[in-house]
Amino acid sequence: MPSHLIAPSVLASDFANLQRDIEMINASEADWFHIDVMDGVFVPNISFGQPVVKAIAKHAKKPLDVHLMIVEPEKYIEQFRDCGADTITVHLEACPHIHRTVQQIKATGAKAGIAINPGTNVSGLEDLLEMTDMVCIMSVNPGFGGQKFIYQTIPKIKKLKAMIDQINAKTIIEIDGGVGLQNAEVMLQAGAKVLVAGSSVFKSEDPIKTISQLKAIGSDN
Ligand code: DX5
Ligand code: ZN
Repeated sequence: MPSHLIAPSVLASDFANLQRDIEMINASEADWFHIDVMDGVFVPNISFGQPVVKAIAKHAKKPLDVHLMIVEPEKYIEQFRDCGADTITVHLEACPHIHRTVQQIKATGAKAGIAINPGTNVSGLEDLLEMTDMVCIMSVNPGFGGQKFIYQTIPKIKKLKAMIDQINAKTIIEIDGGVGLQNAEVMLQAGAKVLVAGSSVFKSEDPIKTISQLKAIGSDN
């Protein structure tokens, strides 16, 4: 299996000890920081915005994967890039002009991601794959950490991977929601490249060890 990336979700960290938790991810085998921005409109929860992303960027030694769960994300793309985002992911469901929004993200120099909710079919991505660096398949309904993985995600990963391979695109697949040691391998086998892990990392007894175990999956066979 080709090597995969682990992106711990800062949403599950201890916000009162954010710097400590950032240093933990810095010291771990994690590849990216996954950063969930929620507006209370697109999703039924509010997390944090630009000032917090900027504060994370100040200490983070790994790329910032910024997941915008907000309406009208096109209003804020340049701001999040300026705050230090390396990848900016917007929701297909929040973007009537998604083609333009992807172009806008790429014009900032950031990598462009498109996220889809569990109820959204991958077929709507067909005309976008060529220009998109990453597709984030949500494996829970977005808004909260700690939810149960929706298994219908697995066939979606396979279908999307086949679409990507068919046109020889370089698009990578990220899975977000309910990911942990118990289900990571099946996602990687289906074609996932990036695993976002919030609660399974931060709520574990030894987060550094859990990250290392997630990273090691598939490497010994
Ligand atoms: C859900 C967020 C996820 C979340 C994942 O709306 O987009 O990134 O933080 O958390 P876990 O891994 O706990 O499901
Ligand atoms: Zn996310």
